[in-house]
Amino acid sequence: MSTFFIYIIYINMKVFKFLYFTFLIFLICLFFSNCKRKERIIIIKEPNKYDVLVNKKYKLPEDYIPNDLEEVNINYAYEHKYLRHEAKIAFENMAYDASKLGYKIILVSAYRNYQYQQSLYQEYVDTMGIEYAKMCSAEAGHSEHQTGLALDIMGSNGDYNLFSESKEFVWVKENAHKYGFILRYPENKTKITGFKYEPWHYRYVGTTLATYLYENDLTLDEYKEKSNL
Ligand code: DAL
Ligand code: ZN
Repeated sequence: MSTFFIYIIYINMKVFKFLYFTFLIFLICLFFSNCKRKERIIIIKEPNKYDVLVNKKYKLPEDYIPNDLEEVNINYAYEHKYLRHEAKIAFENMAYDASKLGYKIILVSAYRNYQYQQSLYQEYVDTMGIEYAKMCSAEAGHSEHQTGLALDIMGSNGDYNLFSESKEFVWVKENAHKYGFILRYPENKTKITGFKYEPWHYRYVGTTLATYLYENDLTLDEYKEKSNL
């Protein structure tokens, strides 16, 4: 009889040990999966640089406002829009050259401040749900529009959402780098950029870098991560 009880205790201890270690392994897995999901946010130290990387990881300071914002020529903009001086000149040159070829490029969104981006993002969350919002709108501080170097454009079909169907689309795609702009959220790079394809969103980085990225089919994220920022 006593041998039987010893045997039962022995079996229970084995079961307990097994459950204990299984639970421990479960906790360790949970810890590492959370670490992976919550990537550390880094506050950008030099937001004024033309090649500044702003994405889901790199965040602009809440109070960052570029000090050289200028209004874009109203002939090329829908309402009053502002860009940083160099980006404004480059955009106006591109829109002017395009107009000489019979194209019409109109700026629909340019500089957006932190608070405006916050309300815009919230609007997406409220109307489309958080998962969709995350794919098409940046949270405040994470939008390049706050740099004054990003722009959303429309063509002569009058809808930026349908820019890829406009006659201007191919010309812009093939020539924007000559003016210092890159297509920031390409169709085949959504996993890298974290945003769905945005054929209308261009970002000023200067002609040298824009040409390099265009010729090598690189996003700004890939380039900056490679060059260790
Ligand atoms: N739509 C882009 C990702 C932005 O909100 O900045
Ligand atoms: Zn945009």
